[in-house]
Amino acid sequence: MIYPFHYREGRLFCEEVDLEQTASTLETPFYLYSAAEIKHSCTVIRDSGRGYDFKPYYALKANFNPALLKIILQQGFGADIVSGGELYFARRAGFKNDSIVFAGVGKTENELRQAVEAGIASINVESRAELYLLSRVAREKKRRVPIAIRINPDIDAHTHEYISTGLHSNKFGVDAETAFEMYLEAAKDPWLEPEGVHMHIGSQIESEQPFVDAARFLLSFIDRLEKAAISITSVDLGGGIGINYNSPFARPEEERTYVKSILSSYLKVFARRRLKLYLEVGRSVIGSAGVLISRVIYTKKTPTKNFTIVDAAMNNLIRPSLYKAHHPIVPLVRNDSNTWKTDVVGPVCETGDFMAREMEMPELKEGSLIAIGGAGAYGQSLASFYNLRPIVAEYLVEGDRVKKISPALSPRELANRFEW
Ligand code: LLP
Repeated sequence: MIYPFHYREGRLFCEEVDLEQTASTLETPFYLYSAAEIKHSCTVIRDSGRGYDFKPYYALKANFNPALLKIILQQGFGADIVSGGELYFARRAGFKNDSIVFAGVGKTENELRQAVEAGIASINVESRAELYLLSRVAREKKRRVPIAIRINPDIDAHTHEYISTGLHSNKFGVDAETAFEMYLEAAKDPWLEPEGVHMHIGSQIESEQPFVDAARFLLSFIDRLEKAAISITSVDLGGGIGINYNSPFARPEEERTYVKSILSSYLKVFARRRLKLYLEVGRSVIGSAGVLISRVIYTKKTPTKNFTIVDAAMNNLIRPSLYKAHHPIVPLVRNDSNTWKTDVVGPVCETGDFMAREMEMPELKEGSLIAIGGAGAYGQSLASFYNLRPIVAEYLVEGDRVKKISPALSPRELANRFEW
């Protein structure tokens, strides 16, 4: 499928919608998503799991807008959650309790209670202390709780250090020795059912090798458990499959994510094994489906730099500031203006507030509209009121229709929550 964000005669479209026409009637900045692209990503992920006992779970942390959750739910995905808030959103969006898995290094007693009461598919335990607390909660509630233990394999995922999770120096999961002991203890606990093994080694991983190494590690660990008479029925393979932030708009499917190549190599390690395979994917579901639309406020030249100052900022999209992430930026209307090297920056009072640095792009006039690509995942879900800037509105495109799926949250509304 051709990428839904594509140019027609120099004008950027999302599906059948002319974005400049739409944006000129709306307040910028705003997020805009393509329903077709979300469905397409879901299909690619499901197809990659064909031939296996496979179920994908969507990681709500990537983007929790209910309208988007409903599309993903309809695509047959479960929900991967990390907090009581995400449990609430997942259930309210319609995910069934037995299609919800719960990861996270710091689940509180209250959150464990909620998850046990709901009877979710698996609680993925990340420490000995959590195992004991969960055991107590399960006993109190008189509920047998299916669990997996998250193994930290000490494998380098070669991604940004802030989103690498599978090294022993990272806070996540437990080493294999500790995990083994925990399984032996859990197997004796009448209220815990250690059915699964869990692993998640990081996010925005672009190559197959770390996944294949992790899969082999998991299999030998499962064999070791089998020898100790602990039988494992499911493996939660985590998420982390990268998307391609480099290629321009209007790209073919194969260039958008690494899902196909990575998943086929990852799952192949488990061929001929009778295991249910779960996946927890966020970015590869929603990342390429969203753009942040913004307007140029000013341009300015300094003796050493060119700046394009836009109305989107790090409070809207923090990825460039936090991970030095690259997001493609294109104008909604192409004209024959010269290109120049420019920093694209927001109005927030921090030098770290930028959307791009030293980017070769058209010299845009004040008032021009731009699209910041690859913004569907970890964009709006990390937004804040910093500098008392609003949390912006979100829109969904389906064919030739544009629907508002969340209104902007203004500083005035925030103000109303305080006593003055
Ligand atoms: N499962 C677990 C246990 C996770 O911690 C994560 C992401 C996922 C699944 C989903 O990973 P994905 O398929 O989306 O890579 N804010 C960062 C990404 C943080 C990822 C946190 N964990 C960013 O903007 O790059």
